[in-house]
Amino acid sequence: MTRQQFFVTTSSSSAAEKNHIKKFWKHWFIVFVTICIFSGLFFLNQKENNTYILKALELKGSVKEGDTLFKMNCVGCHGVTARGFLGPDLHSITQRLDDKKIIKQVIEGQTPPMPSFDIDPQNMSNLLTYLHTLR
Ligand code: HEC
Repeated sequence: MTRQQFFVTTSSSSAAEKNHIKKFWKHWFIVFVTICIFSGLFFLNQKENNTYILKALELKGSVKEGDTLFKMNCVGCHGVTARGFLGPDLHSITQRLDDKKIIKQVIEGQTPPMPSFDIDPQNMSNLLTYLHTLR
């Protein structure tokens, strides 16, 4: 009888322990899944950006179109002559930064207050071609 009671007590304590372990793993499982989802989204986004960049680099841009785009979207901060205002002077920017970095600067919005621009590859190519004329 006493033996049986002893057995019951042990078993209930180990059940509590098991429950604790279960909770612990459940917690880490959730953390793990969350990390997976976020890194998955990050890499997907990275891949999408890379495809976009390659496409923009492949296309032939028009200086005239790029000039218009620049006047519509960028002069507010970089100045009408791109000599800098709120944003930096963009002359010889294509010597300081490679094309990939410039595209990322425009589409990713990593450096506030400069916004990210939702611009299609052809227009990105036009803009980039225009920036190459600023020496
Ligand atoms: C709201 C203001 C704003 C607008 C609009 C804006 N920029 Fe900027 N831009 C900035 C600021 C501020 C920086 C500096 C960010 C930093 O590195 O701290 C910057 C940086 C840059 C750089 C990197 C310069 C360097 O020396 O590293 C490039 C290239 C650039 N902008 C291009 C553009 C183009 C092209 C457009 C238009 C499509 C544009 N920007 C529109 C504010 C703006």
